[in-house]
Amino acid sequence: MARFRELNVTGVRKTTRDAVVVTLAPADGVTEFKQGQYLTFRREFGGEEVRRSYSICTGRTEGIIQVGIKRVEGGVFSSWANENLETGMTLEAMGPAGSFHAPIDPARAAHYLGFAGGSGITPVLSIIKTVLAEEPLSRFTLTYGNRTMGSIMFREELEDLKNLHMRRLNIIHVLESEAQDIELFSGRIDEAKCRSLFERWIDIEGTDTAFICGPEPMMLAVATSLAARGLPEERIKYELFTTSEPGRALRPAPAAASIEVSAGLTRATVTLDGASRSFEMERRVTLLDAALDNAIDAPFACRAGVCSTCRCRVLDGEVEMSSNHALEDHEVAQGYVLACQSIPITDRVVVDFDH
Ligand code: FES
Repeated sequence: MARFRELNVTGVRKTTRDAVVVTLAPADGVTEFKQGQYLTFRREFGGEEVRRSYSICTGRTEGIIQVGIKRVEGGVFSSWANENLETGMTLEAMGPAGSFHAPIDPARAAHYLGFAGGSGITPVLSIIKTVLAEEPLSRFTLTYGNRTMGSIMFREELEDLKNLHMRRLNIIHVLESEAQDIELFSGRIDEAKCRSLFERWIDIEGTDTAFICGPEPMMLAVATSLAARGLPEERIKYELFTTSEPGRALRPAPAAASIEVSAGLTRATVTLDGASRSFEMERRVTLLDAALDNAIDAPFACRAGVCSTCRCRVLDGEVEMSSNHALEDHEVAQGYVLACQSIPITDRVVVDFDH
């Protein structure tokens, strides 16, 4: 079970007016991660603990960890990071976590697509850098949506990468509030835009995997358009952002109202870090809240069914999940649930956070 560890801040650089790139050196020296993964940070603000997840933007072989933090309107962590975070400080973070990646094979000659909106570029940049460095025969086409040129995160870095890998990296900037020489590149990334791009600029038939990260409407538009052109679902990977919280996949969630909460108490047994504890809990409380109320340090980040940090397995009894934007169907079939979204519906539940 991943736990929080200390990371020394060795650099803070502004990439746009309202976004910083933070370089981190883990105190334990372990810098391993997979391209496209994220870290979950925790910090106290006014006596309250806030947890936020930010994607790693470096490539797997660069030997450093950097995360991109874009300021979110009213976002306490992102505002603090943009205004007060300095080299020499220490942060606490859990992870890396997330499955927004495909296996790397140096012998593969693949064509990957990336679709990013705003700060959704962060994990996609990590994937691009890793593919360019580790799959010398593969190509990448990035479609990146922003409001204006000035709001493009990692603009220079992307240009440098393009100059270095002219024949392998193609970048299409789509700008919402700025006219461009080619009219197709102005506006939003929606279904109409995708249709035009796929007709004239992007070859979907030869695509191996598409990575999509950004606001939900953009992601849905791209996914629908890719599916309409015949790209199989298993070759489309999502990373949903809700107010800067990355999650793993886009899944329809049953309406919370559809859950019938039965009255009474449930006897819950929770295993975490090899130790099991039992307690009584009310059936209107989530497994995560009940565990935390009973002094069990269960992992969590978004509390919104998006990040999968609270993933656990139900070994006995039944629970109802009100929202799931994170778990794949096969995980749910194996009994995995999101503790932050699950309430018990049987007299007894046994839950394991370790596997
Ligand atoms: Fe993020 Fe539960 S804490 S899905």
